[in-house]
Amino acid sequence: MQDFVFDNHTKIIFGKDQEQVVGQESISYGKKLLLHYGGGSIKNSGLYDRVVESLHEQGVEIFELGGVKPNPRVSLVREGVELCKKNNIDFILAVGGGSVIDSAKAIAAGCKYDGDVWDFFTGKAVVTDSLPLGVVLTIPAAGSESSTGSVITNEEGSYKRATGHISLRPRFAILNPVLSYTLPAYQTACGITDMISHILERYFTNDRNVELTDRLCEATLRTIINNADTVIQDPTNYDARAEIMWSGTIAHNDLLNTGRIGDWGSHDIEHEISGIYDIAHGAGLAIVFPAWMKYVYKQDVNRFVQFANRVWDVEIDLNNLEKTALAGIKKTEQFFKSIGMPVKLEEVNIDDKHFDEMASKGTERGPVGNFVKLYEDDVRQIFNLAK
Ligand code: NZQ
Ligand code: ZN
Repeated sequence: MQDFVFDNHTKIIFGKDQEQVVGQESISYGKKLLLHYGGGSIKNSGLYDRVVESLHEQGVEIFELGGVKPNPRVSLVREGVELCKKNNIDFILAVGGGSVIDSAKAIAAGCKYDGDVWDFFTGKAVVTDSLPLGVVLTIPAAGSESSTGSVITNEEGSYKRATGHISLRPRFAILNPVLSYTLPAYQTACGITDMISHILERYFTNDRNVELTDRLCEATLRTIINNADTVIQDPTNYDARAEIMWSGTIAHNDLLNTGRIGDWGSHDIEHEISGIYDIAHGAGLAIVFPAWMKYVYKQDVNRFVQFANRVWDVEIDLNNLEKTALAGIKKTEQFFKSIGMPVKLEEVNIDDKHFDEMASKGTERGPVGNFVKLYEDDVRQIFNLAK
């Protein structure tokens, strides 16, 4: 096991009607607040009105910036930074999913920096401080509600890039599973795929003697798989929505990677796809992850056998471990299909036109992944496996 520091300060407020406390939670960070949200789902569901009411009850002065798109754009982030600086905003409240939260985080970092906020995403500058932020989560998926990361797309050049810092961890996150009832089945499935992928990125490690975190990963994966069909078939099933929502946070709050180094190659590869084609991140992962697994499983067949057996109940064939490993990969792919995800690029109308460009851009800062280091040609081969 590797040495580690586990420092997750996000206060999780979980359960029915919990958005009612958003005013009380926010006011301790100051009176002037930026309310940041997406394309309208929070207005349609009535959540917007409840949040505003709770903030007004505490005498919070609200400045608003809506319109965050999935795969959030740096242009809106720049607008947010300007608005916050001009009005001396104290606190940012993100109401929405990963895209809204990531956009809020980028604004929070940009407020403490004199240069262009995109510098944080190219590596020209590093985040050292940010405005405090809080979250009301509406889609369990990205885990951004308690992560240190932010992923932003620059329309110029179609770059999708990440940055991170401990100051970007939200101060609180309100998780009311009822808020996810209005999600379309496709978005629910994208979220499920993303949280599964966050666990798989951590699970496939070269570290040894990480039994506890292996078991925590397996338990979380099994919980998600076990509840996936229910939330898709019966979207207002509170118990299943609650299991999925809490799993999404646990998948990405860094507990599952304590003492181990994860891979993250599939995420880097996926960001090249959604950067250019603007598809949902979860859908991109359903395509990339099985291809990545097929490409790298020989690095540690035993780990893939353990995954097949403990997560998918595949019986271990001691005479043919490779067959067992491949059966686990097949089960993963079949599961993504069963919840309505694409598992091949052609299903989302992507051909090989940009494979070279994506492989080159994806590795321009060096090889991706840790379980196996992948260079430009490896990434191109993974795209070919995903065709
Ligand atoms: O914009 P609105 O109208 O709110 O609609 C959204 C959006 O169209 C809709 N939606 C959200 N909650 C809803 C709802 N519709 C009905 N009812 C609700 N309750 O869902 C759509 C997708 O929202 P989005 O925020 O894009 O989804 P998600 O949470 O999956 O976030 C994806 C983004 O997070 C990044 C991804 O790259 C992607 O850009 N990630 C961020 C991470 C992080 N910061 O730690 C880690 C992840 O690996 C991921 O990369
Ligand atoms: Zn992800």
